[in-house]
Amino acid sequence: MSTPRPVLVVDFGAQYAQLIARRVREARVYSEVVPHSMPVAEMLAKDPAAIILSGGPSSVYAPGAPQVDPKLFDGDVPVFGICYGFQAMAQALGGTVARTGGSEFGGTPLTARPEAGVLLRELPAELPVWMSHGDSVTAAPAGFTVTAESAGAPVAAFEDLAGRRAGVQFHPEVAHTAHGQDVLKRFLYDIAGIEPTWTPANIIDEQVARIREQVGDKEVICGLSGGVDSAVAAALVHKAVGDQLTCVFVDHGLLRAGEPEQVEEDYVAATGIKLKVVDAQERFLGALAGVTDPEQKRKIIGREFIRVFESAAREVAAAGDVEFLVQGTLYPDVVESGGGTGTANIKSHHNVGGLPDDLQFKLVEPLRTLFKDEVRALGLALGLPEAMIWRHPFPGPGLAIRIIGAVDQERLRVLRAADLIAREELTAAGLDRDVWQFPVVLLADVRSVGVQGDGRTYGHPVVLRPVSSEDAMTADWSRLPYDVIARISTRITNEVPEVNRVVLDVTSKPPGTIEWE
Ligand code: XMP
Repeated sequence: MSTPRPVLVVDFGAQYAQLIARRVREARVYSEVVPHSMPVAEMLAKDPAAIILSGGPSSVYAPGAPQVDPKLFDGDVPVFGICYGFQAMAQALGGTVARTGGSEFGGTPLTARPEAGVLLRELPAELPVWMSHGDSVTAAPAGFTVTAESAGAPVAAFEDLAGRRAGVQFHPEVAHTAHGQDVLKRFLYDIAGIEPTWTPANIIDEQVARIREQVGDKEVICGLSGGVDSAVAAALVHKAVGDQLTCVFVDHGLLRAGEPEQVEEDYVAATGIKLKVVDAQERFLGALAGVTDPEQKRKIIGREFIRVFESAAREVAAAGDVEFLVQGTLYPDVVESGGGTGTANIKSHHNVGGLPDDLQFKLVEPLRTLFKDEVRALGLALGLPEAMIWRHPFPGPGLAIRIIGAVDQERLRVLRAADLIAREELTAAGLDRDVWQFPVVLLADVRSVGVQGDGRTYGHPVVLRPVSSEDAMTADWSRLPYDVIARISTRITNEVPEVNRVVLDVTSKPPGTIEWE
């Protein structure tokens, strides 16, 4: 099976290109982001099903503003211009762009003529859209029909059906634009004539074929962390090459209640994957003994992880012809690190960095073209346990950075018990997917006075840190219902005798971070 022809989203340097690519994929059409500096010949060599010119920060007249090479329009590739891309397209095709003084930023009413064309067909004649422009298109190029206007944009949408080109001044990709996704679909399906075939089943078939081609009859190794990316990547590779794959799970003893079992039992039962479990709990705890500094904890865990993984990898390699290592690199990592080809940036220590030279593997990265939501959909289609697919992000150093103070077996036991209660109550309230992450933190070096049962106690506080976020770069504290917080608090103080106080962290990020260490 061949790779689908991509819809290329040309990135003019603003934040919009990735979002547009995601929206295109939500319309079940494969898409890729390319930099505007890519020569047109190279874009066309990718045999694109269509090209979308994205928004950008600059005026088309600004010195050094990225231009659209008119050669893009020589062929018969369908093109859609958005915002800056719309203006650049108008200019390249002989329309006019001018500073009318009618800048529009934010929510703007659009007056459409839905029946005049295809792009806005069957949409309301008045609709709120998101705008961000100083210049405006004042005359459409020859052959184009104008189908919408706003107070500041006399030409706010145009199309040339014969040439399979269209454009809009507004941003169809943002949630503030009503019917934005419909506009995008009209372009993709009805103007460019693309079929919506980018479905989980097709992605699986395509990746399986690719992996077989890359790996041949060699052996493959994969480190499982318990997280969704490595679980889905390994399941895909297993579907492609079966027992040529060996997974390694290093149990560092810093996972939450039930998580090692999820990997060792549920995941193996669901996939039939060959799994080597390394019980390294004592080793990690020994190395962490007495350490209180957060960065020191991270360094120790990273170092020990590589040592343990390396020795497990040597054992697996000794048994067969291991040439490949699976990595769960996702598309945003690829785009953010320059979008180039070649070896991926290895994300962080727990994802197996720094293996020694005599143990270098070629990378298999079956999720390299996918966004997180697509990875989840694949995982579900592959029959992986739901609890793994919907697991919240969890830091590689695990509970070690949620114990404020030195880490030991007893403190881990207390934190695991409190954390499990918080997770159970969040799930029972049906709120798992409303929260990005819900760290529970044990203030092991702080003591608080309480009365529990018959007497005065001198125990420890735990902090609840539920946050909402899009990408963990910024976050806000989640406004969980008080009754859910109350149930968590009551249960923790009743069921975990070492804890006599539960507090809620109400700090956004910035200035706070999500984790406490
Ligand atoms: P912060 O605490 O910096 O966390 O707001 C942002 C996101 O990264 C996770 N995190 C880590 N993940 N190794 C990891 O793999 C780490 O050392 C680490 N520290 C923080 C954190 O859980 C959140 O999702």
